[in-house]
Amino acid sequence: MLDILETEKSFILKHIKEGDTVADFTMGNGHDTLFFSQTVGVGGRVFAFDIQQSALESTKKRLEDNNAPQNYTLICDSHHNADKYIDCKIKAGMFNLGYLPGGDKTITTKRETTLAAVKTAIGLLDTDSILLIAVYPGHEEGEIEGELINEMLQTLDRKKYCCAKFRIINSPTSSYFYIVETK
Ligand SMILES: C[S@@+](CC[C@H](N)C(=O)[O-])C[C@H]1O[C@@H](n2cnc3c(N)ncnc32)[C@H](O)[C@@H]1O
Repeated sequence: MLDILETEKSFILKHIKEGDTVADFTMGNGHDTLFFSQTVGVGGRVFAFDIQQSALESTKKRLEDNNAPQNYTLICDSHHNADKYIDCKIKAGMFNLGYLPGGDKTITTKRETTLAAVKTAIGLLDTDSILLIAVYPGHEEGEIEGELINEMLQTLDRKKYCCAKFRIINSPTSSYFYIVETK
């Protein structure tokens, strides 16, 4: 049966290789940061963002425990400020919206900053790159975030971007994702 996380990674892996620069816009416990760090290797760069210091600590521990290459910068700030920290184009970016698993469920991504951050991330995309946005419609804010992202992505110029949605249609509360690919 389909594994949504593996499917997400398979899309991303088509666009990144060792030495690339990438961004994890919702660091959380660092699973995606670790995946990026190991994939782009010692010559690559990984920028990761979260507004919770506890996420940075948890991610740092995960990276160290797994002997990840020293290619990461962990930033305690909102993802809509990403372009203040990232000084070049990125080959891949990932949003995993919602709240920190095992953490405070009231500290969740919110529509205003999420939409601004997705726009910032799109502005950072290199040629032949990908942005992946995983949405969790099982809670109210997640459902609204998904709808707003959908509306915004529909307006992007098809000559520059291919925007798609991947959803298991007989499981309406399961996570689903959008991809934005550049030419
Ligand atoms: C679903 S979790 C991410 C899970 C993560 N990808 C992992 O591998 O564990 C969502 C994260 O987004 C963070 N977050 C919420 N608002 C944010 C914002 N404005 N900027 C950056 N991160 C934010 C939360 O603190 C939370 O840790």
